Amino acid sequence: MHFLAVIACCLLALSAASEWGYPDLDNNQDEAFPKWGGLCDNGKKQSPINLHVKGALKGEFSALKFENFDEEQGSLQMVNNGHSIQLSGFAHDLTLSGGGLVSDYVVEQIHMHWWSEHTINDIRYPLEVHIVHRNKIYPNMSMAANFKDGITVLGVLYHVSNTPNEAIDSIIKSLDSVKSYERINIPAHIEDSLAVDDLVPSVDTYFTYAGSLTTPTCAEAVTWIVLTNTFPVTLDQVNQFKEIEYEKDKQLHNNYRELQSENNRAVVLVVQQERSSADQLSTLGMGLTLLLGLAVHKFQL
Ligand SMILES: *[C@@H]1O[C@H](CO)[C@@H](O)[C@H](O)[C@H]1NC(C)=O
Ligand SMILES: [Zn+2]
Repeated sequence: MHFLAVIACCLLALSAASEWGYPDLDNNQDEAFPKWGGLCDNGKKQSPINLHVKGALKGEFSALKFENFDEEQGSLQMVNNGHSIQLSGFAHDLTLSGGGLVSDYVVEQIHMHWWSEHTINDIRYPLEVHIVHRNKIYPNMSMAANFKDGITVLGVLYHVSNTPNEAIDSIIKSLDSVKSYERINIPAHIEDSLAVDDLVPSVDTYFTYAGSLTTPTCAEAVTWIVLTNTFPVTLDQVNQFKEIEYEKDKQLHNNYRELQSENNRAVVLVVQQERSSADQLSTLGMGLTLLLGLAVHKFQL
């Protein structure tokens, strides 16, 4: 009985992994993006979108608050789920609150997309890390996905650099044990310790908008927070992720969803004012106006 249950579980997991996928861009650059069904095809608040400074609404909120993100995670789990590399098993609740958020959100899992899903001013980045949070008032992700305030995803973009990213490297070091098709959905441990903070650059400027999960069921339950500050990564590092298999002898070379229609949604650009330390602000000699000016300038390049 036990044995059958295990088989049933794993067959389900495998069939779920192959039910939907990404176009094979190696084979044909112009291959149409597959239909994933349901909300993915007919939703009106889908993600990702192109984030652009022109047309964004200026927002001002209290600072985002991160609890336990700086804690070193000594025994994170990692899986190849056939669509991405996903980390879970955080020692304590990592809680995100503040900003425009209505509640406390706790980290459920972290995964990545290569290339980025969101673009900023039409620019795509080589890697996007998604830190997926569940609203604490809901008991689990499947419940949370039913409510528009159910999920918050912090999106972090990485830009191409010659400098290897240390935090990403500590994940890559354990990739070999999950790369092959036979290892899909079998968790491995990340050997290096890693603080989630190490994956997140400064959070003082970000886009936020109401959108969806970027994988089926594409539930429209996500408050997106996409940081405009980016971290460096080398293309060699990103290529390591591209070696994971989603089918026998088939490597997952791309796992980003195509851009979705904005449909006249409010996309808010938040430039955080440093309130808690006026000293720091005056030392930097930067008022909000200058910061905004710099941001706009940067985005127009
Ligand atoms: C999520 O929570 C609901 C309500 O407590 C429960 O009925 C459901 O089985 C849970 N789902 C999962 C996948 O744990
Ligand atoms: Zn994602």
